[in-house]
Order: sequence, then C-alpha cells, then structure tokens
Amino acid sequence: MAWTRAILYSVLSSYFWHPSSAEYVWPDEQIDELERLLFEQDSPFDPPGGNIASFVSGCTGFAGGPGGSGGRSFGAEWLRNAYHDMSTADVTAGTGGLDASIVFEMDRPENVGQAFSESLSFLGAAYTTRSSMSDMFAMGAVMAVGQCSNGNIIIPFRAGRVDATGPGPSGVPQPQEDLATHTATFAKQGFNVSEMITLVACGHTIGGVHGVDFPEIVPNPPNTGTDNTVTFDATTNDFDNSVAKQFVANVSQNPLAFGQNETTRSDFRIFNADGGKVISQMAESENYFLSTCNALLERMINTVPRSVKLTDILHPYTVKPRNLFITPNADGTVFATGFIRIINTTVDATKSQVLIHPTSRSGKLLPVTTGIRNNRLTASCSYPNCGPDFIYYQFNTTISAKDGISSFTVEIVDDASGKTIVYENGGSGFPFSDAIQPVFSLSNQSVITVDKVDYTQLNITALVLNAEDFSDVSLIVPQPLNTTAPLSPWIQDKVKMKPLNKIPGTEYTLYSGTWQGKVPTNTHPFDIVATGQKSTVSSLFNTWDNVPQIFN
Ligand code: HEM
Ligand SMILES: *[C@@H]1O[C@H](CO)[C@@H](O)[C@H](O)[C@H]1NC(C)=O
Ligand SMILES: *[C@@H]1O[C@H](CO)[C@@H](O)[C@H](O)[C@H]1NC(C)=O
Ligand SMILES: *[C@@H]1O[C@H](CO)[C@@H](O)[C@H](O)[C@H]1NC(C)=O
Ligand SMILES: *[C@@H]1O[C@H](CO)[C@@H](O)[C@H](O)[C@H]1NC(C)=O
Ligand SMILES: *[C@@H]1O[C@H](CO)[C@@H](O)[C@H](O)[C@H]1NC(C)=O
Ligand SMILES: *[C@@H]1O[C@H](CO)[C@@H](O)[C@H](O)[C@H]1NC(C)=O
Ligand SMILES: *[C@@H]1O[C@H](CO)[C@@H](O)[C@H](O)[C@H]1NC(C)=O
Ligand SMILES: *[C@@H]1O[C@H](CO)[C@@H](O)[C@H](O)[C@H]1NC(C)=O
Repeated sequence: MAWTRAILYSVLSSYFWHPSSAEYVWPDEQIDELERLLFEQDSPFDPPGGNIASFVSGCTGFAGGPGGSGGRSFGAEWLRNAYHDMSTADVTAGTGGLDASIVFEMDRPENVGQAFSESLSFLGAAYTTRSSMSDMFAMGAVMAVGQCSNGNIIIPFRAGRVDATGPGPSGVPQPQEDLATHTATFAKQGFNVSEMITLVACGHTIGGVHGVDFPEIVPNPPNTGTDNTVTFDATTNDFDNSVAKQFVANVSQNPLAFGQNETTRSDFRIFNADGGKVISQMAESENYFLSTCNALLERMINTVPRSVKLTDILHPYTVKPRNLFITPNADGTVFATGFIRIINTTVDATKSQVLIHPTSRSGKLLPVTTGIRNNRLTASCSYPNCGPDFIYYQFNTTISAKDGISSFTVEIVDDASGKTIVYENGGSGFPFSDAIQPVFSLSNQSVITVDKVDYTQLNITALVLNAEDFSDVSLIVPQPLNTTAPLSPWIQDKVKMKPLNKIPGTEYTLYSGTWQGKVPTNTHPFDIVATGQKSTVSSLFNTWDNVPQIFN
C-alpha cells in the first residue's frame, strides 16, 4: 500500500493540540472514555474497540485503498458515513444531525454502498454507556481526516451526542438531483452556497465513486477487482486541495464533475454555483482549503438536535490514573497498586521523580510511595498533531486495613531543577477508595457449555467495606436492550452478589457473583455497586481485560 504524504503547513499550527490549563477533575463519566479513545490511541492497555485510529492508518486502513486491491478506503467511508448521518438535519427546526440514525437507514437508495455498515462494525466496537455511537461516528470522522491529512487537519472534538432509537427522515443529497435541490438541502443543514461548495470539496478529496454501487455514474469497469472505483482526484489518500486544483484545471478525473452521465455531475454544478469563486480559492491555496475544511467539518460533526448539549472541546488529562486495584492480604493489610499516565512534556522520563501521596480513609497522610516508570508503557496518537505522548508510572503500597485508602495526590519532582508540581485533581486528590473493589486475583472469566450452547461467565469476587451498611451488592454488565437491532440502548444486566466471609482482622467482607451471557458476549465494562440506606458505593466501568481467563 503506497500513498504520498502531504507536507506540513506550519501556518495551521494554531489548529493543533496545545496543552490546556483547564484541568479535568477525574473521574468524569462524560469525558474519560472518549478522552482515552481520542488521545491514547496507540496504548499499551488494549481498550474496548482497539486502536480505532489504526483502522484508518494511511487514510485507507487495511481496505487497501481505492486504487489498491480492495478498492475501498475506510478513511473515506468514515467521513462519508458522518456526512450522511448528519445531512438530514433541519437546523431551523433543531432536529436531526449527527445522531447515528444512519444505522437504521442503510437500506435506503440514498445510502447505497458498504461505507455505513463498515463504519458501524469498526466504530461500534467502541460503543459503550460512556461513548455513544454518534460520538464514535463523529470521532471516526475526526480520526479519518486526521490520518488522511497526515495531521494537517485536527478537528476539535466535543462529546455528548445522543443516539437516535430509530430511523429519521430521508433527504441525503444524491448526484442526480439539481442544483436548486442541493442548495435547499444544504441550507436546511445550515450551510449557505459558499459553504456547500467548500464542504463538498472537503468530502470529495478522498475516496471515489464505486461503479458497483453507482453503475449509472461509472458504467464501464475501469479497473475490475477494485469495486470499479474511480477516485475523485489523483491523490485519493491525501486530504488536500488537488480535487479543487484538478477541477479548476479541467482535469476530467472526478466522476461527479466530468463523468460521462451529465445528470449525475453534481460536483460540477455545485463547484460552479457561485461562478467558480470558492473552488478557485480552494485550488489556489492549500492553507485556505485546509482551514475552511477544518472549520466546516467541525460544524458538520457538531450539528446535533437542539436538545443535545455538547461538552467543551476535549483535551487530554495531564495526569490520569488507570487500573487502580486493591488486594487484601492475610495479615490485616491491603496491597494498593495503580498506574499514572502523564503527558511527556510534564514529566521528564529520565530526570523526574513521580511521588504518590496516599491519604487514609480518615484523611491522614500515609507514607509516600515512588512511581516507577514502566519503559514498555507509552501511548500516543497515531497521526501528527493530534495530541501528546504519554508516559506511565506504576506504584504500589501496602496499607493497614485499619487506615484504608481514600485518595492520593501526584507530585512530580524535576531532579535537575528541584522544581515540584503537585497534581491534586481539583483539590481533593484522585479518588482511590477501598469502600468497594473487585479483587481481580480472585476473579475469572471462562466459557462454559450447557446443552451445546456456549456462555461466557464472569466470576467476580469483590471486597466491600462495612458490609452491614448495605442491603444489596450487585455486579452489573450493561447489555443491549434489543440484541438484534443495529444499535440499541443499554440495559443494566444486574446480578446480586453473595457475601462469602469477612476477612479476619479487617472490616472487609468478600462478595462473589457470576454474570452469564450467551456467546458471542457483549463484554461491556462492568460495575460493582453496593446500596444501603446511608450510602451507595461503586466501582465503575471495570474492563474485562483485567479479569484472568480460565480455559476449560
Ligand atoms: C450534493 C452533495 C453530495 C453528493 C451528491 C455526494 C455524492 C457522492 C457519491 C455518489 C459518492 C460515491 C459513493 C461510493 O461510490 O461509495 C460520494 C462519495 C463520497 N462522499 Fe459525497 N456527496 C455529497 C457531499 C458530500 C459531503 C458534504 C461529504 C463530506 C464532507 C462527502 C463525502 C464523501 C466521501 C468521503 C466519499 C468517498 C467515499 C468512499 O470512497 O468510500 N460527500 N459522494
Ligand atoms: C456564507 O456564510 C459565510 C460565513 O457567514 C459568509 O462569509 C459567506 O459570504 C456566505 N456566503 C453566501 C453565498 O452567502
Ligand atoms: C444517468 O443517470 C441518471 C440518474 O441516475 C439515470 O437515470 C440515467 O439512466 C443515466 N444515464 C446513463 C446513460 O447511464
Ligand atoms: C476549463 O474549461 C472552461 C469551460 O470550457 C474554460 O472556460 C476554462 O478556461 C478551462 N480552464 C482551463 C484551466 O483550461
Ligand atoms: C513528547 O512527545 C512529542 C510528540 O510525539 C515529541 O515530539 C516530543 O519530543 C516528546 N518530548 C519529550 C520530552 O519526550
Ligand atoms: C511494588 O513496587 C516495587 C517498586 O516500587 C517493585 O519492586 C515491586 O515488584 C512491586 N510489587 C508488586 C507486587 O508489583
Ligand atoms: C473463579 O472466580 C470465582 C469467583 O470469584 C471463584 O469462586 C473461583 O474459585 C474462581 N475459579 C478459579 C478456577 O480460579
Ligand atoms: C464461576 O462461578 C460459577 C458459579 O459459582 C461456577 O460454577 C464456576 O465453576 C466458576 N468458574 C470458574 C472458572 O471457577
Ligand atoms: C429489535 O430490533 C429489530 C431489528 O431492528 C426490530 O425488528 C424489532 O422490532 C426490535 N424489537 C423491539 C422490541 O424493539
């Protein structure tokens, strides 16, 4: 697979990621998972969904590229998917937009092609209670454009999109429609004529028209084995202005501009809608092309129903805990361990010291412990300019069960300068509570067969502090309400956990519970929740990756 790389445009650097002073307070259910997916793409902790951005690496991903063996580009598909999902918006009425309703609309003639089912299958793997399908479709477009532009376009990402529960109205623009229809459709989506021209050029700079799906546009198989694809421009894997340059120069490559069927030359009609002014400007200046595409694609992915409130633009946590575990020992102590992810410019891997200051349950400072840099563990974005590199530090400490633990702060000491920064997570420290925790060393997952049917079993042992305060301790694994629907809301599939025994010399009681799901199982991260009259305590969104697998 070969593709040419666009050169860097330093003029655009103001659009790129910059460290932010507005720190998040961890944990944040609305931010954390999406922040991880967006910034920690190439991560040592295998996340649900995998490294999503890698599926559009080099723009095409392993689809092989429009001119290559597969004839398809996953990057182009993810961008087209986001536009089609959004394009039935009515901004005046405040309805529609990016809401994942496209998953219910794939059989419509206006949504012909594999782009939509393929986008769903890749991005759907990351769909959870904390990452809506529509947020994933928006993020897919951000990553596709990031990869295809080699980091020249970093679309700012906001979270909070809400998924539709069924199909919406039809009305995706189609190539055989006339200019008046397209102008009206784009106006309904919130784009005027100049913006329509821009947005179409920004979409049609990658990928192409597949003759298998549009035989009336590409009737003569030019290139069998590639789904009869004719690309929009000669640099189909590069998000660049060559689509505009070629159009202005009358190069007849683009099948929607110069194709043999005049009826379906929608790009020709649209690019000339203002007498050719905007498309010429886009052809003349790559910087203008990239900056207008960035702004309009941002507006495109942020077009949501009026009732939906998006978050501020996501930025990475400077310091973010991961995999905080507690294991009870036999001698009245507990072993507490975890990872701290730190932005590489905040910590110097060779010269800094990372100190963890744990606080007991009652608020007393416990002995300091040193975070040890794990050389194997680093994470970063998969394409330039999308975010920082991260370094991981691991810590552990043994604490008396009597003291327990409630939180910690992270102190970074620059050994060379002696400068110290303490990260206090908004003032109260990073929560790390022994009120309720899964004990992974006593838990397991396995597949069992009953009457020739395979089930996944998740066996969790958890410790619960002061169990007498709680009337219910449950293991919850969210599952789709409708397992045959392409997209379904989650239900909280709940299993009551049973008390086993109190750990001698402590106030911890062990509980165990088994959740069972028919294979293939949706291994959505699980929660453990204890509820009582006085309080509710929980350990949320635990990944199955940390639960040992038992093979029968
Ligand atoms: C009047 C408006 C538009 C019309 C009529 C139109 C039509 C088409 C058609 C017929 C294809 C070929 C699809 C295939 O064979 O798989 C296509 C591809 C594509 N369109 Fe559009 N489009 C429009 C606007 C847009 C916009 C605004 C965007 C995004 C900003 C966009 C993004 C794409 C992309 C990325 C592809 C390539 C898909 C691939 O290679 O798999 N389109 N478009
Ligand atoms: C479209 O809107 C933009 C931004 O408001 C404006 O600069 C441009 O002149 C408008 N174009 C037309 C044709 O109205
Ligand atoms: C051109 O496209 C139109 C609209 O899709 C179609 O009805 C017509 O048959 C096509 N003409 C040819 C010659 O393929
Ligand atoms: C492209 O074609 C148009 C219409 O025939 C013509 O006016 C224009 O000069 C041509 N442009 C170039 C660069 O050849
Ligand atoms: C941090 O990561 C960035 C992005 O990959 C890299 O350019 C930079 O050299 C790294 N800085 C340090 C101090 O390691
Ligand atoms: C705890 O951390 C120390 C270094 O800080 C390390 O030597 C030790 O192996 C760790 N213990 C466990 C069980 O991870
Ligand atoms: C699997 O986990 C359950 C519940 O935590 C535990 O009772 C059981 O002993 C474990 N089985 C094995 C083989 O480790
Ligand atoms: C998981 O728990 C169930 C129910 O207690 C038990 O039958 C099963 O053997 C456990 N699985 C393993 C691997 O221990
Ligand atoms: C579940 O989804 C299927 C497929 O979309 C649909 O036909 C069915 O009506 C849905 N069931 C319920 C109860 O909504």
